[in-house]
Amino acid sequence: MKIKQATSKDLAHIKIILEQSGLPVQDCELHLKNFFVAEVDARPVGVGGLELTGVDGLVRSIAVLPAHRGRGIGRELYQRIADRAIQSGIHRLYLLTETAEDHFAKLGFAPIAHTDTPKAIAATRQFRELCAQSATLMYRDVVRSGKRDGTRLPADGDASHHRRKTSHKLHIATRTAK
Ligand SMILES: CC(C)(COP(=O)(O)OP(=O)(O)OC[C@H]1O[C@@H](n2cnc3c(N)ncnc32)[C@H](O)[C@@H]1OP(=O)(O)O)[C@@H](O)C(=O)NCCC(=O)NCCS
Repeated sequence: MKIKQATSKDLAHIKIILEQSGLPVQDCELHLKNFFVAEVDARPVGVGGLELTGVDGLVRSIAVLPAHRGRGIGRELYQRIADRAIQSGIHRLYLLTETAEDHFAKLGFAPIAHTDTPKAIAATRQFRELCAQSATLMYRDVVRSGKRDGTRLPADGDASHHRRKTSHKLHIATRTAK
């Protein structure tokens, strides 16, 4: 398995993989320079991308063809996205998912209330139009305590750390709403 930077030649394959995974295909060409393609035997089997918005990044549409799932390709695609986020000066990564919350929890993401979405993330087309309102919004820090950690997958602590933080935030949001 090889992961490579996407080019315009990969666009058709990217769209097919996203469509087969039930994910939105619109506007990914605008962010192609931050998209990656996973290949097995030189055939595209997975895709993942990043949309940059200042210090926050939106993880776009990680998808692996059904026949190739469960072999670590999704994790590797995320790792390339995290590395690109670090190179691009991103501090926090956000994503929307309807089906893979547990998968991203294993990668250190924690759920967060839609009301806590940074303005720049909320303004992205994917957030505004392409993903269902019912999708879970998740985030994780890329840079923490002055140390960049995006190239290292969390052992077990990051998600619970974020969950504690998030439940505190949700508590505040609930109290404010009363
Ligand atoms: C989510 C997805 C990209 C994962 O790809 P993958 O190559 O199968 O993932 P990996 O093999 O790298 O799995 C990494 C871990 O996540 C787990 N995992 C994978 N998909 C999962 C899911 N949908 N729900 C819960 N856990 C999942 C794996 O069991 C594995 O756990 P382990 O490390 O403890 O063994 C793939 O299932 C997919 O394309 N789904 C449809 C599209 C989608 O929902 N994308 C996410 C929204 S952007």
